[in-house]
Amino acid sequence: MSQKLVVGNWKMFGSRAMAAELLQLLRDANLPSVVCPPYPYLLMAADLLAGSAVKVGAQDLEYRDEGAYTGEVSGPMLRDVGCSHVIVGHSERRALYGENDALVVEKVRAALRHGLTPVVCVGEHLEQRQRGLAKRVVLDQLNAVINGIGAESFARVLVAYEPVWAIGSGVAATLDDVAEMHVAMRAALRDANCDGVALLYGGSVKPDNAGQLLSLHAVDGVLVGGASLVADSFLRICSAAK
Ligand code: PGA
Repeated sequence: MSQKLVVGNWKMFGSRAMAAELLQLLRDANLPSVVCPPYPYLLMAADLLAGSAVKVGAQDLEYRDEGAYTGEVSGPMLRDVGCSHVIVGHSERRALYGENDALVVEKVRAALRHGLTPVVCVGEHLEQRQRGLAKRVVLDQLNAVINGIGAESFARVLVAYEPVWAIGSGVAATLDDVAEMHVAMRAALRDANCDGVALLYGGSVKPDNAGQLLSLHAVDGVLVGGASLVADSFLRICSAAK
């Protein structure tokens, strides 16, 4: 099996001491992956991980490059501190901070403009799945970005399918559900001439289910939240991705 991608999203967890310890362990293990700590720890992460197989990403960005936008962090700043990736449109941003597809498109554009690889998150809510709308919701989110930035640019994007009901719930989507959605996304990408784009799965990925998820042909990697905060768990997932 070829190397698959593992992205760790720490969300708003950690401290300077915790970050230093965890990052050191990741550097020592040197397994290919991307870690996305909170903003204050990005510089430390990039310094500690420089030259290793572990890359650094942010969890969000502002789409404008600079200006009077109190509290925001821009693409050029993320590049400046050593980030190579940035998560865009995570369901927590969409649900809690009102991010819509139009804003997600602006952020993806900004990331690409500054040489950052966006990890674009898409996913349906439980109620949407129960009403049989899961594929429509996910493909609409995906197509909004493809249409917004164009197929050529979209080739530089990573997509993470994260069913909202699986995030932080401890219950990942079934292998069948993941495979079915990934096949539908792949078909949509093919229709849009974006064949080579990597499709990750996220939502309660743990060491004990990562192997099976990563063995799915349709899954090119995983986006890991809670389990990325524990070195042993994250490293076991990274090992499964080899
Ligand atoms: P989880 O989070 O692994 O804790 O479910 C995934 C995510 O939100 O990216």
